[in-house]
Amino acid sequence: MYHAQPLNSLTGNLDIPGDKSTSHRIIMFGSLATGITKVRGLLEGEDVMSTIDAFRAMGVTIEKDHTKNEWIINGVGLHGLTEPNNVLNMGNSGTTTRLISGILSAQKFNSFLTGDDSLITRPMARISDPLTQMEGKFILKSKGRLPMVIQGNPNLKGIEYELPHASAQVKSAILLAGLYATGSTTVKEPIATRSYTEDLLRMCGASIKSIPYKKGFIHTIEQCKELTAPKDVFNVPADPSSCAFPVVAGLICKDSKITIKNVDSSPTRFGIYDILLQMGANIIYTNKRTVANIPLVDMEISFSELTAVEVDSDHIPSMVDEVPVLAVACAYAKGTSIINGLKELRVKESDRLQGTLDMLLSAGVKAEIVGDSLHITGTNNNVQGGGEVMANLDHRMAMSGIVLSSASKDGMEIDDVSPIQTSFPNFFEIFPAL
Ligand code: S3P
Repeated sequence: MYHAQPLNSLTGNLDIPGDKSTSHRIIMFGSLATGITKVRGLLEGEDVMSTIDAFRAMGVTIEKDHTKNEWIINGVGLHGLTEPNNVLNMGNSGTTTRLISGILSAQKFNSFLTGDDSLITRPMARISDPLTQMEGKFILKSKGRLPMVIQGNPNLKGIEYELPHASAQVKSAILLAGLYATGSTTVKEPIATRSYTEDLLRMCGASIKSIPYKKGFIHTIEQCKELTAPKDVFNVPADPSSCAFPVVAGLICKDSKITIKNVDSSPTRFGIYDILLQMGANIIYTNKRTVANIPLVDMEISFSELTAVEVDSDHIPSMVDEVPVLAVACAYAKGTSIINGLKELRVKESDRLQGTLDMLLSAGVKAEIVGDSLHITGTNNNVQGGGEVMANLDHRMAMSGIVLSSASKDGMEIDDVSPIQTSFPNFFEIFPAL
């Protein structure tokens, strides 16, 4: 049990780790490219280490040059992976599991995948179904869960597939299988999700066309002969999802004033900041720029009197990981907030819809789940705290609990804060008073 105490304020220039989605992908695509990929700012959290370990187990040399603070990936080429000696353990990482499945389904060898107690409860049929249509071969535990066997098939066929859920991971699994499949592979996404797979594969020379479709895109990838390593050192920007925790703490703790530099401000990731601004948050963007096709900003955040908001379900894909911490902001706001379209939260690292409700109730905040929506009665900066948060192996629930505590009267108990290491290794340097 971890006791998270209230904070007086949060101040200073904060060092936020590299983006998790981008870090996974640059390791994967660097491993499959021909040539050497050099990366700065990589997230060195446990999830990305699961990706590094998996590619090392398939013969890729991935090392850190500590003097330059750079990761070096010696790409083996699209067809250069070798059979791993043992089961690939994906740890807590859904992104590693789902993306790597697209790649493994096309190999000459079979693979065996498992994960931790959280990951083995998460749905994998959402990737094995479309990949099976491409003639990938899967055996899953009952209810479509890990452990999973992937029987490699170097003769995958291209398909056309419309995503039934807004999911960048499912889109990515299909596009990665599409690198290997004969002909072209098309994924229709009715709502736009993060685009790093398309963007980074394009940077490595893959042929992918994206055309507008409903509120998203139709992506078509052609079978690929070779990916090429990026010429320049690749810089991973700060993770906008990780930033959201100190940002919300800065907004709700009186006298706070923080700056965060070099944040990825892609529209598919920035939904929470649009909503916080609507709630009256003092967030100022400076130094807007685009580097290597990624939009970046610096941010200045200070204490704010927040007001309630209603979030439309179409907005959720651009803030899918930020809902628990947005709910914390709503708990401190004035008025009743409604966040709609939260079905996907039930299948994240934990059931985040139930977990967020339980966390709020335990802190003395009135809230209820109505269908797929969360209704939160704001306290106008008057959260009592004093309760317990069950993180259930979920890094973002543990961090949300700590942020909720930060401006509360009595603080909160968190069952386990160790999962924070999956995505935010220096979290406790930023929340030092705890
Ligand atoms: C991710 C996509 C999202 C997100 C996850 C990372 C990615 O999942 O929740 O943390 O890197 O593609 P879904 O695509 O399943 O919504």
